Amino acid sequence: MILDGKKTSEKRLELLKEQIDESGLYPRLATVIVGDDPASQMYVRMKHRACERVGIASIGIELPADATTEMVLEQVVRLNDDPDINGILVQLPLPLQVDSQTVIEAVAPHKDVDGFHPLNLGYLFSGEPRFVPCTPAGIMTLLDEYDIECGGKHAVVVGRSIDVGRPMAALLLNANATVTICHSRTRDLATHTTRADILISAVGRARFVTREMVREGAVVIDVGINQDEQGNLCGDVDFESVQEVAAAISPVPGGVGPMTIVTLMENTFEAARASACGRVP
Ligand code: GUN
Repeated sequence: MILDGKKTSEKRLELLKEQIDESGLYPRLATVIVGDDPASQMYVRMKHRACERVGIASIGIELPADATTEMVLEQVVRLNDDPDINGILVQLPLPLQVDSQTVIEAVAPHKDVDGFHPLNLGYLFSGEPRFVPCTPAGIMTLLDEYDIECGGKHAVVVGRSIDVGRPMAALLLNANATVTICHSRTRDLATHTTRADILISAVGRARFVTREMVREGAVVIDVGINQDEQGNLCGDVDFESVQEVAAAISPVPGGVGPMTIVTLMENTFEAARASACGRVP
């Protein structure tokens, strides 16, 4: 079974558009991008396009590649203080001279639609999620769409980043899975991955997960967006061989990527709704 993130996200974008129309609200998202990395620019463009589709207003702030931490903070503080802005997204990665953690912590938690602020990650890990990082939240939505139950399953997450691996593990734990987190220092990775009922790869290496690393009948989620030696877009998973053993697999492109974007839209609408009735998200 192919876990079609494109189709699922289209359906959810339509639904969200209706909900936003009916709400009478006009949610607003601000993006901040530093530098001119083409991949980051493309992701931000896609986010703005999705905003337009569902009826969210968006503004984009662009800073030069040599911007300082203070320059980024100045924008974040201004957006925090702007009552017309509901959600703030600072596109990562930031250039090396910018202190990313300080920037992430500067975003007001109630506008942190990326869910990277330590307060929001803390709520997630305490089992009381508010804003949840968009990629792992989108993966949970995709699993749910295909009626894939997590309770009692052994889920193995490869990667421990704050945007994917760690929050993914927390979400799976909250959904009653038994969770193993693997990373670059894990010894004998395949002994862990072959025990997974649900295998999530967020490694960032082209075709890293091979058939030998996957148990027959496993659900395989590919978070990677990589280029192979020929410059072709491909995931972390060697799709051709792994699809022969997996019960379900998400493709790249058309799997996790579109789910990330629709979740960002959902988080932004939630921020606007919470703001309109004066409650925390
Ligand atoms: N860079 C890669 N993924 C993401 C994401 O989900 N949010 C932000 N802000 N930056 C990213």
